[in-house]
Amino acid sequence: MTLRVAIVGGGPAGIYAADILTKSEVDVSVDILERLPAPFGLVRYGVAPDHPRIKEIVKALQRVLAKPQVRLLAGVEFGVDVKLEVLHDFYDAVIVATGAMADRDLGIPGEELSHGAADFVSWYDAHPDVGRSWPLDAPSVAVIGVGNVALDVARVLAKTGDEMLVTDIPAHVYEGLATKTTTDVHVFARRGPAYAKFSPLELRELNHSPNVEVIVHPEGFDVDEQAMAHVASNKQAKMVLSTLSNWVGREPVGKPHRIHLHFAEAPTEILGDETGVTTLRTERTRPTDHGAVEGTGVHTDWDVQAVYRAVGYRSSALPGLPFDERAAVIPNDGGRVLDLDGQPIPGLFVTGWIKRGPVGLIGHTKSDAAETVEHLLADTRPIATDREPADVDAYFAERGVQVSTFEHWERLDAHEVALGEAEGRARVKVADRAEMIRVGRG
Ligand SMILES: Cc1cc2nc3c(=O)[nH]c(=O)nc-3n(C[C@H](O)[C@H](O)[C@H](O)COP(=O)(O)OP(=O)(O)OC[C@H]3O[C@@H](n4cnc5c(N)ncnc54)[C@H](O)[C@@H]3O)c2cc1C
Ligand SMILES: NC(=O)c1ccc[n+]([C@@H]2O[C@H](COP(=O)([O-])OP(=O)(O)OC[C@H]3O[C@@H](n4cnc5c(N)ncnc54)[C@H](OP(=O)(O)O)[C@@H]3O)[C@@H](O)[C@H]2O)c1
Repeated sequence: MTLRVAIVGGGPAGIYAADILTKSEVDVSVDILERLPAPFGLVRYGVAPDHPRIKEIVKALQRVLAKPQVRLLAGVEFGVDVKLEVLHDFYDAVIVATGAMADRDLGIPGEELSHGAADFVSWYDAHPDVGRSWPLDAPSVAVIGVGNVALDVARVLAKTGDEMLVTDIPAHVYEGLATKTTTDVHVFARRGPAYAKFSPLELRELNHSPNVEVIVHPEGFDVDEQAMAHVASNKQAKMVLSTLSNWVGREPVGKPHRIHLHFAEAPTEILGDETGVTTLRTERTRPTDHGAVEGTGVHTDWDVQAVYRAVGYRSSALPGLPFDERAAVIPNDGGRVLDLDGQPIPGLFVTGWIKRGPVGLIGHTKSDAAETVEHLLADTRPIATDREPADVDAYFAERGVQVSTFEHWERLDAHEVALGEAEGRARVKVADRAEMIRVGRG
């Protein structure tokens, strides 16, 4: 009998899980339930528009969705349009792959005056749930955190609108970026340069813009023995440190926009009022043990008019499923979801960022999915009662849920490519949810 599997979440983790399932020796039929009218999760709504090569991964993911054993049911929100107990009637196993969409909090006074990186990313990546306008009138901006998301945010804030126009951004994003008045983006690391989490390639890329220069400030740029030991065991950190060391203290060449990198400065407070931010206050740190830092009591006030938190994403709890609030993941053992007593819940699995937290590249979700699928196939036997794909279709049709299928996505995809062709670009994204659905339905 064909094994029926539901995957909740059409990001890379969910789609790789579907791929691995279809390549197994077991006869499977997989439905991918996705909240948005378009698949691909953060590949479409996280990866920066000026990283088109990475977005090409969509082509491989699309081939999985085109497989005869796989169906895309987009526009279906788990917890709203369907609940877990209903899925268990239709499927022998459920894999949750809902990723992460929210920003982590900083926990400092004035935080409510700041923007979350995830919100800004969603705006420039034309996420259908995000408004069309974004305030970009701050001459000086602070970005907190030194991961790749912080670099994406700093780069998009620093580049000109015209530099971004070669990408897939729709008109409202271009217009927002084109009227931006930001000249200086200050990026703050709470630790020293050996612990920056950037990828070396992404860091070096900052140097390639004709309009942006990177200024690495020498204050706090300290590399002690502990830091040297850290980079000795971490190739990426070593490459990043080498690039930063080449850049530290170099003379500015006078490009119109600047990204400043500040090390060993921890944010302590954001000052301002309902009219906006006036100041970011930071405290100089010094290293303690194992790469940690402590405050020195030396504070600096930075004259900035906007603050972005790029200190990590956070997954959200799902109705009816256990959730570890501290780690913000669904508790699991190798992808087998665990109940409050630590026992596996039959037929329930998890993969991707909601399984192990919001770190790692798209490629990492593949190995993740392999582990989860291995356990699923070892545990699962056909038990669902309403096994036909038509049973699922009837369920959503009866409740008026507008399901977008792979054919609908193909039509939207072709439409976006055609919009791009008209402007000499590879694609122009459609951001409006109703428009996405309308185009998909032809
Ligand atoms: C800003 C940013 C830029 C990045 N850039 C890169 C990069 O350049 N290169 C790289 O390798 N990695 C990059 N990453 C990392 C990469 O995006 C992640 O590793 C990967 O997307 C995680 O995959 P996932 O499927 O677990 O989650 P996601 O990609 O978040 O996918 C989860 C999916 O589940 C859906 N979903 C959520 N809730 C529900 C629900 N209730 N019902 C139904 N569906 C639901 C979501 O809509 C989404 O489509 C980036 C991450 C971020 C945040
Ligand atoms: N182009 C790409 O390949 C690309 C692009 C975007 C994202 N990604 C990937 O997506 C994942 C998520 O990226 P991310 O940037 O969100 O997370 P990340 O790599 O974990 O970086 C988070 C940053 O926030 C800092 N931070 C956390 N809490 C803080 C606090 N209270 N005060 C000050 N700083 C704080 C961290 O500093 P500490 O180290 O001191 O904790 C770190 O510098 C990563 O694996 C990343 O590589 C990849």
